[in-house]
Amino acid sequence: MNSAKLILDNKEYELPVIVGSEGEVGIDITQLRGKSGAITLDSGYGNTGSCESAITFIDGEKGILHYRGYPIEALARQSNFTEVAYLLINDKLPSKTELDNFNYSLTHHSLIREDMKKFFEGYPPSAHPMGILAAMISSLSAYYSQKDDMDLNIIRLIAKIKTLAAFAYKKLIGQPYIYPRNDLSYAADFLNMMYAVPSEKYEVPKVLEDALDLLLILHADHEQNCSTSTVRMVGSSEANLFAAISAGVGALWGKLHGGANQAVLEMLEKIQKDGGNYKKYMDMAKDKNSGFKLMGFGHRVYKNFDPRATILKEACDKVLSELGITDPLLDIAKNLERIALEDNYFVERKLYPNVDFYSGIIYRAMKIPTEMFTVMFALGRLPGWIAHWKEMRSNLQSRINRPRQIYTGNVNQKYVPIESR
Ligand code: CMC
Repeated sequence: MNSAKLILDNKEYELPVIVGSEGEVGIDITQLRGKSGAITLDSGYGNTGSCESAITFIDGEKGILHYRGYPIEALARQSNFTEVAYLLINDKLPSKTELDNFNYSLTHHSLIREDMKKFFEGYPPSAHPMGILAAMISSLSAYYSQKDDMDLNIIRLIAKIKTLAAFAYKKLIGQPYIYPRNDLSYAADFLNMMYAVPSEKYEVPKVLEDALDLLLILHADHEQNCSTSTVRMVGSSEANLFAAISAGVGALWGKLHGGANQAVLEMLEKIQKDGGNYKKYMDMAKDKNSGFKLMGFGHRVYKNFDPRATILKEACDKVLSELGITDPLLDIAKNLERIALEDNYFVERKLYPNVDFYSGIIYRAMKIPTEMFTVMFALGRLPGWIAHWKEMRSNLQSRINRPRQIYTGNVNQKYVPIESR
């Protein structure tokens, strides 16, 4: 299979076919407009490949997710977040020395400039931490130039994002900032900056450290999703790394994307307050006029199961039982899942619980406030965003991203001066 034919207005066009390393087929239309004058229209980009990429493979029908060729299940079981970050960004698993050096750099770049603390002070207590995080990442460009070594800026960003995220949280609750510690793992350091207070000794529970590390691994990349495509879109204009990642944070914030983890919890709380009547919400989700969707269900790519959700479901039970938590919201979640998996509406549309369905429940068990859930997603997704930004910037053939459109507006309007209208 190396070409496809398109007949348009009785003229035949031959289009090259590209086959990926896992056998996915793409019809290359880069020459189509030049040859035929036509473009393709694919609202929501459900059938459009925006690039070739060697980072992540997803088979949505089979529920497969690989980072750099490694199955997510193996990475979740045997690896850790900084090793996965190294793998995504550098396209290879690190040796022991390489990983030690990487971790050393990540810990030794985790402080932020003291004057950045003033930026946090300017926000009202009601500010959403995603807005603060996006602004703080963008502000890093004021301190670290695009002319600096690319790898160093990448290290700086991964190292500092957890400090920025934890400071945003401390700002939210009005507590003093806790500085990063170089003797802790990435996940433990973040949790320490979130929960430690100067007046008390605090030790991060191992169960929380492990749960967060797993969550970060599971979120680390997901090929051309909305936020990653945004990072690539912004990066394609040669905007700096910090500007591109900040745009990705903005895209992630929406409730159809990363914001779904917050929306899931809010939905479960709403159902609980409404007497736990989950069937009512199930009916609303099926009624197109209700404007209500079952948050944490459905996925553009996964049409069988979300492998991240399968891993998280297990982890969720483990974390809750180790922490001795019984959560009525979890019962509501399980009931929703059970009836959705049996309901024709959901079965026919292949709507299954996605990663955000369970992550919200684990975050809640970890006592992470709901507004911080999407920030947690951003911490995890950062290595993926960076890997895509780097891949695009390293490809000398890549062009500025600039889609076309089909114009449907008025034509041949005659301008009438305002006094005559
Ligand atoms: N509840 C009820 N109906 C749904 C849902 C839902 N959560 N999701 C999809 N549908 C229906 C949709 O109305 C449509 O029905 P019909 O064919 O009758 O018109 C059908 O299922 C196909 O859905 P779609 O809107 O065409 O699917 P999409 O690929 O455009 O959207 C989605 C994918 C994830 C945005 C959507 O499923 C959704 O809004 N889910 C809830 C939000 C959510 O959980 N988002 C997190 C996604 S996973 C984390 C991430 O990677 O961002």
